[in-house]
Amino acid sequence: MKIAVLKERAAGETRVAATPETVKKFVGLGNEVAVESGAGERASISDSAFSDAGAVLGELATVMKDADIVLGIQAPKPTVLKGAKKGAWVAALFDPFQNSGLVAAYAKFGFEALSMEFMPRITRAQSMDVLSSQSNLAGYKAVLAAADTYDRAFPMMMTAAGTVQAARCFIMGVGVAGLQAIATARRLGAQVSATDVRSATKEQIESLGAKAIFVQDVAGIEGEGSGGYATEMSDEYKAAQAKLVSEHIAKQDIVITTALIPGRAAPVLITDEQIATMKPGSVIFDLAVAQGGNVEGSKPDKTVVKHGVSIIGFSNTPAHLAADSSALFARNHFNFLSAFWDAEAGAPVLDEEIGDAVRLTKGGEIVNERLQG
Ligand code: NAI
Repeated sequence: MKIAVLKERAAGETRVAATPETVKKFVGLGNEVAVESGAGERASISDSAFSDAGAVLGELATVMKDADIVLGIQAPKPTVLKGAKKGAWVAALFDPFQNSGLVAAYAKFGFEALSMEFMPRITRAQSMDVLSSQSNLAGYKAVLAAADTYDRAFPMMMTAAGTVQAARCFIMGVGVAGLQAIATARRLGAQVSATDVRSATKEQIESLGAKAIFVQDVAGIEGEGSGGYATEMSDEYKAAQAKLVSEHIAKQDIVITTALIPGRAAPVLITDEQIATMKPGSVIFDLAVAQGGNVEGSKPDKTVVKHGVSIIGFSNTPAHLAADSSALFARNHFNFLSAFWDAEAGAPVLDEEIGDAVRLTKGGEIVNERLQG
Protein backbone atom coordinates (compact mmCIF):
# COMPACT_ATOMS: atom_id res chain seq x y z
CA MET A 1 0.00 0.00 0.00
CA LYS A 2 1.11 3.54 -0.62
CA ILE A 3 0.32 5.89 2.26
CA ALA A 4 0.47 9.62 1.51
CA VAL A 5 0.92 12.30 4.16
CA LEU A 6 -0.04 15.81 3.12
CA LYS A 7 1.09 19.22 4.16
CA GLU A 8 -1.95 20.80 5.82
CA ARG A 9 -3.66 23.48 3.76
CA ALA A 10 -6.18 24.94 6.23
CA ALA A 11 -5.36 28.41 7.57
CA GLY A 12 -3.70 28.29 10.98
CA GLU A 13 -3.19 24.52 10.90
CA THR A 14 0.27 23.67 12.21
CA ARG A 15 -0.11 19.95 12.85
CA VAL A 16 0.93 17.04 10.67
CA ALA A 17 -0.77 13.65 10.42
CA ALA A 18 2.33 11.46 10.71
CA THR A 19 5.60 11.60 12.62
CA PRO A 20 8.87 9.76 12.05
CA GLU A 21 7.72 7.26 14.70
CA THR A 22 4.51 6.36 12.85
CA VAL A 23 6.22 6.43 9.44
CA LYS A 24 8.65 3.80 10.70
CA LYS A 25 5.79 1.66 11.98
CA PHE A 26 3.83 1.90 8.71
CA VAL A 27 6.97 0.99 6.77
CA GLY A 28 7.43 -1.92 9.17
CA LEU A 29 3.99 -3.20 8.09
CA GLY A 30 5.26 -3.32 4.51
CA ASN A 31 3.97 0.02 3.19
CA GLU A 32 5.54 2.76 1.16
CA VAL A 33 5.06 6.12 2.92
CA ALA A 34 5.26 9.33 0.87
CA VAL A 35 5.38 12.66 2.73
CA GLU A 36 4.88 16.04 1.07
CA SER A 37 7.98 18.20 1.49
CA GLY A 38 7.64 20.65 4.38
CA ALA A 39 4.65 18.77 5.89
CA GLY A 40 6.17 18.68 9.37
CA GLU A 41 7.85 22.07 9.37
CA ARG A 42 5.36 23.83 11.68
CA ALA A 43 5.38 20.86 14.07
CA SER A 44 9.19 20.93 14.34
CA ILE A 45 9.67 17.84 12.17
CA SER A 46 12.17 18.24 9.35
CA ASP A 47 12.00 16.53 5.98
CA SER A 48 15.21 14.70 6.83
CA ALA A 49 13.68 13.28 10.04
CA PHE A 50 10.89 11.84 7.90
CA SER A 51 13.28 10.42 5.30
CA ASP A 52 15.51 8.93 8.02
CA ALA A 53 12.41 7.09 9.24
CA GLY A 54 11.91 5.58 5.80
CA ALA A 55 9.55 8.03 4.08
CA VAL A 56 9.95 9.22 0.51
CA LEU A 57 9.70 13.03 0.38
CA GLY A 58 8.31 14.82 -2.65
CA GLU A 59 6.01 17.43 -4.11
CA LEU A 60 2.23 16.98 -3.99
CA ALA A 61 1.82 15.30 -7.40
CA THR A 62 4.52 12.70 -6.65
CA VAL A 63 3.19 12.02 -3.16
CA MET A 64 -0.38 11.57 -4.39
CA LYS A 65 0.46 9.40 -7.42
CA ASP A 66 -1.30 6.03 -6.93
CA ALA A 67 -1.80 6.60 -3.19
CA ASP A 68 -4.07 4.03 -1.52
CA ILE A 69 -4.45 5.83 1.81
CA VAL A 70 -4.11 9.54 2.53
CA LEU A 71 -3.56 10.72 6.10
CA GLY A 72 -4.49 14.26 7.07
CA ILE A 73 -5.37 16.38 10.06
CA GLN A 74 -8.09 18.42 8.32
CA ALA A 75 -9.52 16.80 5.20
CA PRO A 76 -8.27 18.57 2.07
CA LYS A 77 -10.50 19.45 -0.87
CA PRO A 78 -10.75 16.37 -3.11
CA THR A 79 -9.01 18.27 -5.92
CA VAL A 80 -5.83 18.19 -3.80
CA LEU A 81 -5.97 14.38 -4.02
CA LYS A 82 -5.52 14.31 -7.79
CA GLY A 83 -3.53 11.24 -8.76
CA ALA A 84 -4.61 9.06 -5.82
CA LYS A 85 -6.14 5.67 -6.68
CA LYS A 86 -9.86 5.50 -7.33
CA GLY A 87 -11.58 4.66 -4.07
CA ALA A 88 -8.54 5.73 -2.01
CA TRP A 89 -9.14 6.13 1.72
CA VAL A 90 -8.71 9.54 3.31
CA ALA A 91 -8.52 9.50 7.12
CA ALA A 92 -8.78 13.00 8.65
CA LEU A 93 -11.12 15.44 10.39
CA PHE A 94 -14.11 16.22 8.14
CA ASP A 95 -16.36 18.13 10.57
CA PRO A 96 -19.18 16.29 8.74
CA PHE A 97 -22.16 18.13 10.27
CA GLN A 98 -20.80 21.53 9.24
CA ASN A 99 -19.16 20.46 5.98
CA SER A 100 -21.85 18.69 3.99
CA GLY A 101 -20.46 20.16 0.74
CA LEU A 102 -17.07 18.60 1.37
CA VAL A 103 -18.59 15.20 2.18
CA ALA A 104 -20.68 15.35 -1.02
CA ALA A 105 -17.56 16.23 -3.02
CA TYR A 106 -15.71 13.20 -1.61
CA ALA A 107 -18.60 10.99 -2.71
CA LYS A 108 -18.58 12.59 -6.15
CA PHE A 109 -14.85 12.02 -6.58
CA GLY A 110 -15.25 8.41 -5.44
CA PHE A 111 -12.96 8.61 -2.40
CA GLU A 112 -13.66 6.81 0.86
CA ALA A 113 -13.78 9.49 3.55
CA LEU A 114 -12.97 8.22 7.07
CA SER A 115 -13.98 10.81 9.61
CA MET A 116 -11.73 10.55 12.67
CA GLU A 117 -14.17 12.58 14.80
CA PHE A 118 -16.80 9.86 14.31
CA MET A 119 -14.64 7.26 16.10
CA PRO A 120 -17.04 5.45 18.45
CA ARG A 121 -16.52 5.93 22.18
CA ILE A 122 -15.82 2.34 23.03
CA THR A 123 -12.94 1.01 25.05
CA ARG A 124 -11.07 -0.61 22.18
CA ALA A 125 -11.20 2.62 20.14
CA GLN A 126 -9.79 4.84 22.89
CA SER A 127 -6.28 4.77 21.42
CA MET A 128 -7.71 5.84 18.03
CA ASP A 129 -9.76 8.76 19.35
CA VAL A 130 -8.44 12.08 18.08
CA LEU A 131 -11.09 14.11 19.93
CA SER A 132 -9.71 12.82 23.23
CA SER A 133 -6.05 13.18 22.37
CA GLN A 134 -6.48 16.71 21.07
CA SER A 135 -8.94 17.86 23.76
CA ASN A 136 -6.54 16.80 26.46
CA LEU A 137 -3.82 19.09 25.11
CA ALA A 138 -6.37 21.84 24.45
CA GLY A 139 -7.49 21.79 28.10
CA TYR A 140 -3.89 22.21 29.20
CA LYS A 141 -3.19 25.04 26.74
CA ALA A 142 -6.40 26.90 27.67
CA VAL A 143 -5.22 27.23 31.27
CA LEU A 144 -1.74 28.35 30.22
CA ALA A 145 -3.18 30.95 27.83
CA ALA A 146 -5.54 32.25 30.53
CA ALA A 147 -2.68 32.39 33.05
CA ASP A 148 -0.59 34.32 30.55
CA THR A 149 -3.30 36.95 30.03
CA TYR A 150 -4.16 37.20 33.74
CA ASP A 151 -2.17 40.00 35.37
CA ARG A 152 -1.88 38.26 38.71
CA ALA A 153 -0.28 35.01 39.87
CA PHE A 154 -2.02 31.62 40.13
CA PRO A 155 -0.44 30.24 43.32
CA MET A 156 -0.60 31.74 46.77
CA MET A 157 2.80 33.25 47.58
CA MET A 158 3.96 34.34 51.01
CA THR A 159 6.66 36.92 50.47
CA ALA A 160 8.47 39.44 52.67
CA ALA A 161 6.43 42.13 50.92
CA GLY A 162 3.15 40.42 51.77
CA THR A 163 0.91 37.60 50.60
CA VAL A 164 -0.27 37.07 47.04
CA GLN A 165 -3.68 35.34 46.99
CA ALA A 166 -4.26 32.17 44.98
CA ALA A 167 -6.35 32.63 41.82
CA ARG A 168 -9.84 31.15 41.80
CA CYS A 169 -10.39 29.11 38.69
CA PHE A 170 -13.76 27.68 37.54
CA ILE A 171 -13.95 24.99 34.84
CA MET A 172 -17.31 24.61 33.05
CA GLY A 173 -17.68 21.27 31.25
CA VAL A 174 -15.66 18.36 32.61
CA GLY A 175 -15.02 16.10 29.62
CA VAL A 176 -11.52 15.31 28.47
CA ALA A 177 -10.47 18.98 28.08
CA GLY A 178 -12.09 20.03 31.35
CA LEU A 179 -10.40 17.30 33.39
CA GLN A 180 -7.00 18.32 32.02
CA ALA A 181 -7.83 21.99 32.68
CA ILE A 182 -8.62 21.15 36.33
CA ALA A 183 -5.36 19.24 36.69
CA THR A 184 -3.33 22.01 35.05
CA ALA A 185 -4.89 24.81 37.10
CA ARG A 186 -4.28 22.77 40.27
CA ARG A 187 -0.64 22.22 39.31
CA LEU A 188 -0.27 25.99 38.88
CA GLY A 189 -1.60 26.46 42.40
CA ALA A 190 -5.07 27.89 41.75
CA GLN A 191 -8.15 27.15 43.87
CA VAL A 192 -10.22 25.16 41.41
CA SER A 193 -13.94 24.45 41.11
CA ALA A 194 -15.83 22.82 38.23
CA THR A 195 -19.29 21.95 36.95
CA ASP A 196 -20.96 19.74 34.33
CA VAL A 197 -24.43 18.51 33.40
CA ARG A 198 -23.34 14.87 33.78
CA SER A 199 -23.46 13.82 37.42
CA ALA A 200 -20.78 11.16 36.77
CA THR A 201 -18.20 13.96 36.63
CA LYS A 202 -18.73 14.96 40.27
CA GLU A 203 -16.50 12.22 41.58
CA GLN A 204 -13.89 12.92 38.89
CA ILE A 205 -13.77 16.60 39.87
CA GLU A 206 -13.34 15.74 43.53
CA SER A 207 -10.71 13.11 42.86
CA LEU A 208 -8.60 15.83 41.20
CA GLY A 209 -8.85 17.93 44.37
CA ALA A 210 -11.31 20.50 42.96
CA LYS A 211 -14.71 21.57 44.31
CA ALA A 212 -17.78 20.31 42.43
CA ILE A 213 -20.47 22.94 41.79
CA PHE A 214 -23.72 21.29 40.70
CA VAL A 215 -27.32 22.30 40.03
CA GLN A 216 -29.50 20.90 42.83
CA ASP A 217 -33.10 19.69 42.63
CA VAL A 218 -33.33 19.64 38.80
CA ALA A 219 -32.43 16.48 36.91
CA GLY A 220 -29.14 16.62 35.03
CA ILE A 221 -27.70 13.69 33.07
CA GLU A 222 -27.49 10.80 35.50
CA GLY A 223 -25.66 8.17 33.51
CA GLU A 224 -23.06 8.69 30.85
CA GLY A 225 -25.58 9.38 28.04
CA SER A 226 -24.90 8.18 24.51
CA GLY A 227 -21.16 7.58 24.13
CA GLY A 228 -20.55 9.72 27.21
CA TYR A 229 -21.77 12.86 25.46
CA ALA A 230 -24.11 15.51 26.81
CA THR A 231 -27.47 16.37 25.26
CA GLU A 232 -29.41 19.64 25.17
CA MET A 233 -30.76 20.39 28.68
CA SER A 234 -34.33 21.34 29.66
CA ASP A 235 -35.29 25.02 30.05
CA GLU A 236 -35.76 24.40 33.78
CA TYR A 237 -32.23 23.03 34.06
CA LYS A 238 -30.81 25.92 32.03
CA ALA A 239 -32.48 28.48 34.32
CA ALA A 240 -31.17 26.74 37.46
CA GLN A 241 -27.71 26.49 35.94
CA ALA A 242 -27.71 30.21 34.99
CA LYS A 243 -28.60 31.13 38.58
CA LEU A 244 -25.89 28.91 40.03
CA VAL A 245 -23.29 30.23 37.58
CA SER A 246 -24.24 33.86 38.30
CA GLU A 247 -23.66 33.35 42.01
CA HIS A 248 -20.38 31.49 41.57
CA ILE A 249 -18.81 33.35 38.70
CA ALA A 250 -18.76 36.75 40.42
CA LYS A 251 -16.14 35.32 42.80
CA GLN A 252 -13.90 33.79 40.11
CA ASP A 253 -10.70 35.15 38.56
CA ILE A 254 -10.38 32.62 35.73
CA VAL A 255 -13.13 30.70 33.94
CA ILE A 256 -12.44 28.00 31.35
CA THR A 257 -15.49 26.83 29.37
CA THR A 258 -15.38 23.55 27.43
CA ALA A 259 -19.05 22.54 26.95
CA LEU A 260 -19.95 20.89 23.65
CA ILE A 261 -22.97 19.00 22.34
CA PRO A 262 -22.18 16.84 19.28
CA GLY A 263 -23.77 18.07 16.05
CA ARG A 264 -25.08 21.27 17.64
CA ALA A 265 -23.85 24.76 18.39
CA ALA A 266 -22.13 24.92 21.77
CA PRO A 267 -24.50 25.93 24.62
CA VAL A 268 -24.15 29.52 25.88
CA LEU A 269 -23.12 29.21 29.53
CA ILE A 270 -22.02 32.77 30.31
CA THR A 271 -24.03 35.83 29.29
CA ASP A 272 -22.87 39.42 29.03
CA GLU A 273 -24.82 40.22 32.18
CA GLN A 274 -22.87 37.56 34.08
CA ILE A 275 -19.55 38.80 32.72
CA ALA A 276 -20.43 42.24 34.13
CA THR A 277 -20.51 40.74 37.66
CA MET A 278 -16.91 39.51 37.43
CA LYS A 279 -13.96 41.44 38.82
CA PRO A 280 -11.99 43.61 36.37
CA GLY A 281 -8.84 41.76 35.31
CA SER A 282 -10.55 38.37 35.31
CA VAL A 283 -10.01 36.11 32.31
CA ILE A 284 -12.35 33.75 30.50
CA PHE A 285 -11.01 31.18 28.02
CA ASP A 286 -13.75 29.85 25.72
CA LEU A 287 -12.59 26.50 24.37
CA ALA A 288 -15.85 26.13 22.43
CA VAL A 289 -15.35 29.39 20.52
CA ALA A 290 -14.96 27.61 17.16
CA GLN A 291 -18.30 25.80 17.70
CA GLY A 292 -20.23 29.03 18.35
CA GLY A 293 -18.88 29.68 21.84
CA ASN A 294 -19.98 29.12 25.45
CA VAL A 295 -19.45 32.80 26.25
CA GLU A 296 -21.47 35.68 24.85
CA GLY A 297 -19.21 37.91 22.77
CA SER A 298 -16.21 35.57 22.45
CA LYS A 299 -14.44 35.66 19.08
CA PRO A 300 -11.98 33.10 17.65
CA ASP A 301 -8.35 34.19 17.93
CA LYS A 302 -9.26 37.56 19.46
CA THR A 303 -9.01 38.99 22.94
CA VAL A 304 -12.33 40.72 23.60
CA VAL A 305 -12.41 42.91 26.71
CA LYS A 306 -15.88 43.40 28.19
CA HIS A 307 -16.59 45.01 31.56
CA GLY A 308 -12.83 44.79 32.24
CA VAL A 309 -12.85 41.00 31.70
CA SER A 310 -10.65 39.50 28.95
CA ILE A 311 -12.38 36.83 26.89
CA ILE A 312 -10.06 34.68 24.82
CA GLY A 313 -10.33 31.55 22.69
CA PHE A 314 -8.46 29.98 19.81
CA SER A 315 -10.09 28.69 16.64
CA ASN A 316 -7.74 25.70 16.80
CA THR A 317 -6.27 25.22 20.27
CA PRO A 318 -4.32 21.96 19.62
CA ALA A 319 -2.50 23.78 16.78
CA HIS A 320 -0.85 25.88 19.52
CA LEU A 321 1.00 22.74 20.68
CA ALA A 322 1.82 21.39 17.24
CA ALA A 323 4.57 18.94 18.14
CA ASP A 324 2.69 17.07 20.86
CA SER A 325 -0.71 17.29 19.18
CA SER A 326 0.80 15.92 15.95
CA ALA A 327 2.52 13.10 17.82
CA LEU A 328 -0.76 12.00 19.43
CA PHE A 329 -2.87 12.49 16.29
CA ALA A 330 -0.35 10.49 14.25
CA ARG A 331 -0.47 7.66 16.82
CA ASN A 332 -4.29 7.71 16.70
CA HIS A 333 -4.06 7.24 12.90
CA PHE A 334 -1.56 4.41 13.28
CA ASN A 335 -3.51 2.69 16.08
CA PHE A 336 -6.64 2.87 13.94
CA LEU A 337 -5.21 1.43 10.72
CA SER A 338 -2.84 -1.08 12.32
CA ALA A 339 -5.62 -2.54 14.50
CA PHE A 340 -7.32 -3.67 11.30
CA TRP A 341 -4.22 -4.72 9.40
CA ASP A 342 -4.74 -7.89 7.44
CA ALA A 343 -1.28 -9.35 6.91
CA GLU A 344 -2.36 -11.51 4.00
CA ALA A 345 -4.06 -8.67 2.13
CA GLY A 346 -1.27 -6.25 3.13
CA ALA A 347 -4.03 -3.72 3.79
CA PRO A 348 -6.42 -2.71 6.56
CA VAL A 349 -9.86 -4.33 6.58
CA LEU A 350 -12.27 -2.39 8.80
CA ASP A 351 -14.91 -4.13 10.87
CA GLU A 352 -18.55 -3.03 11.02
CA GLU A 353 -18.59 -1.39 14.42
CA ILE A 354 -15.73 1.02 13.78
CA GLY A 355 -15.70 1.05 9.96
CA ASP A 356 -19.38 1.93 9.61
CA ALA A 357 -19.06 4.58 12.32
CA VAL A 358 -16.21 6.50 10.68
CA ARG A 359 -16.90 5.90 6.97
CA LEU A 360 -18.73 8.82 5.39
CA THR A 361 -18.53 7.96 1.69
CA LYS A 362 -17.92 4.86 -0.40
CA GLY A 363 -18.51 3.93 -4.05
CA GLY A 364 -19.75 7.42 -4.93
CA GLU A 365 -22.38 7.52 -2.14
CA ILE A 366 -22.72 9.11 1.29
CA VAL A 367 -23.06 5.98 3.44
CA ASN A 368 -22.92 7.20 7.06
CA GLU A 369 -26.19 6.80 8.93
CA ARG A 370 -25.53 9.90 11.09
CA LEU A 371 -25.63 11.95 7.88
CA GLN A 372 -28.88 10.49 6.55
CA GLY A 373 -32.08 12.54 6.80
P1 NAI B 1 -17.43 17.04 24.94
O1 NAI B 1 -16.23 17.66 24.33
O2 NAI B 1 -18.52 16.56 24.05
O3 NAI B 1 -18.08 18.09 25.97
C1 NAI B 1 -17.31 18.64 27.02
C2 NAI B 1 -18.07 18.58 28.33
O4 NAI B 1 -19.07 19.60 28.36
C3 NAI B 1 -18.78 17.26 28.62
O5 NAI B 1 -18.34 16.75 29.85
C4 NAI B 1 -20.26 17.64 28.64
O6 NAI B 1 -21.01 16.86 29.56
C5 NAI B 1 -20.18 19.09 29.09
N1 NAI B 1 -21.39 19.89 28.81
C6 NAI B 1 -22.21 19.86 27.73
N2 NAI B 1 -23.20 20.76 27.87
C7 NAI B 1 -23.01 21.38 29.07
C8 NAI B 1 -23.70 22.41 29.78
N3 NAI B 1 -24.81 22.95 29.30
N4 NAI B 1 -23.20 22.79 30.99
C9 NAI B 1 -22.08 22.22 31.51
N5 NAI B 1 -21.38 21.24 30.87
C10 NAI B 1 -21.84 20.82 29.68
O7 NAI B 1 -17.03 15.86 25.94
P2 NAI B 1 -15.76 14.90 25.87
O8 NAI B 1 -14.58 15.58 26.38
O9 NAI B 1 -15.68 14.42 24.50
O10 NAI B 1 -16.09 13.72 26.87
C11 NAI B 1 -17.39 13.23 27.13
C12 NAI B 1 -17.30 11.88 27.86
O11 NAI B 1 -16.89 10.85 26.97
C13 NAI B 1 -16.33 11.85 29.03
O12 NAI B 1 -16.95 11.17 30.09
C14 NAI B 1 -15.18 11.02 28.52
O13 NAI B 1 -14.51 10.33 29.54
C15 NAI B 1 -15.88 10.07 27.58
N6 NAI B 1 -14.96 9.58 26.54
C16 NAI B 1 -14.91 8.23 26.26
C17 NAI B 1 -14.05 7.75 25.28
C18 NAI B 1 -13.98 6.27 24.97
O14 NAI B 1 -14.51 5.48 25.71
N7 NAI B 1 -13.36 5.88 23.84
C19 NAI B 1 -13.18 8.65 24.52
C20 NAI B 1 -13.32 10.04 24.89
C21 NAI B 1 -14.19 10.46 25.87
